[in-house]
Amino acid sequence: MNPLASQKSTRHQPAVNAPSTAPQIPEPAVQTLTLRQPDDWHLHLRDAATMAAVLPYTARVFARAVVMPNLRPPITTVDQAQAYRDRILAALPPGVAFEPLMTLYLTGATTPAQIDAARASGFVHAVKLYPSRATTNSDAGVRSLAECRAVLARMERLDLPLLVHGEIARADVDVFDRERLFLDEELAPLQRDFPGLRIVLEHVTTRDAVQYVEEAPGRVAATITAHHLLYNRNAMFLGADGAAGMRPHFYCLPVLKREGHRAALVAAATGGNQRFFLGTDSAPHPRAEKESACGCAGCFTAPLALEMYAQAFERAGALDRLEGFASNHGADFYGLPRNSGTITLRRQAPAPLPPITALGQEIAVLPVHDAAWSVDAVTPAAGA
Ligand code: DOR
Ligand code: ZN
Repeated sequence: MNPLASQKSTRHQPAVNAPSTAPQIPEPAVQTLTLRQPDDWHLHLRDAATMAAVLPYTARVFARAVVMPNLRPPITTVDQAQAYRDRILAALPPGVAFEPLMTLYLTGATTPAQIDAARASGFVHAVKLYPSRATTNSDAGVRSLAECRAVLARMERLDLPLLVHGEIARADVDVFDRERLFLDEELAPLQRDFPGLRIVLEHVTTRDAVQYVEEAPGRVAATITAHHLLYNRNAMFLGADGAAGMRPHFYCLPVLKREGHRAALVAAATGGNQRFFLGTDSAPHPRAEKESACGCAGCFTAPLALEMYAQAFERAGALDRLEGFASNHGADFYGLPRNSGTITLRRQAPAPLPPITALGQEIAVLPVHDAAWSVDAVTPAAGA
């Protein structure tokens, strides 16, 4: 479906034989945009009351989401994934169709038999690699890929994708270089040793990662978040009216990078390359834990995620490429059917959000001030 075909425009059509002196009427921009319903290929839903508070925002817009397993304790077995999936389905608002695509958390103790069970389950769609200590709830993560070789070989054989948090988490590596170093030190050897393994490099943040994914042999793709398309690292250090300040709400991992990297991400997302697709990395945290002496990493973007992506694509003059990125490329990479429902965005600032709370604590939403699009209507697939 070509979204431009369904854009309703108030575009003024000049009369065929209009005299050349006719006044120039500026062309108003398109007012609505209808897309195939999108999926979120990287999402943190948490659990219990927090999940119940945040899930409706994703399920309102996205038909499916790849659900990250970094709970405490992490989701490491198919039985745990099944129970977590059941809790997600039970927390959905009545009448909302949404399919959670489950993942397992890779550890040094994961066995090939667990990969067999994951593949056979039908609901576990990938395994997530967190380098130990790289990010939120990653202490159970992998210390060395050498301890996972049998598991990776089985994933390659059964064609179960590996999702990668691509950062070297050594203390001596500069925070802003962690993704770039991961490419040469970990990802290239991984691909060389397991050339058939399907890999998603999650939430890429650098032009180096973009270039790697564009040029790599084999079956590698990448997700890109909305906040990494809209903001560079200055956003973490801007106070009111451009003065100095520190903004913990813009802190996530991998951390926002400098402007040239953001521009490379926009070019990748809007360029039509099927290896790049939407993954919000929406990661809710209580406001008190973001605004603290040691603020935690993660941006909760689910309430306005598609609106933010539309903003980034419009600024790049590429609204016609949004559907491929948001609704087609990810499904094709995972070998899943594209959705058959549609979603319509309207050129209109989104309504203010109500406070989102769980267990009496407010959840911090990434502040978005200048969104020009809002979700207007969702028409799920017939029978969904
Ligand atoms: O900023 C992040 N937050 N990056 C991650 O990789 C994890 C996430 C979270 O779970 O909060
Ligand atoms: Zn994440």
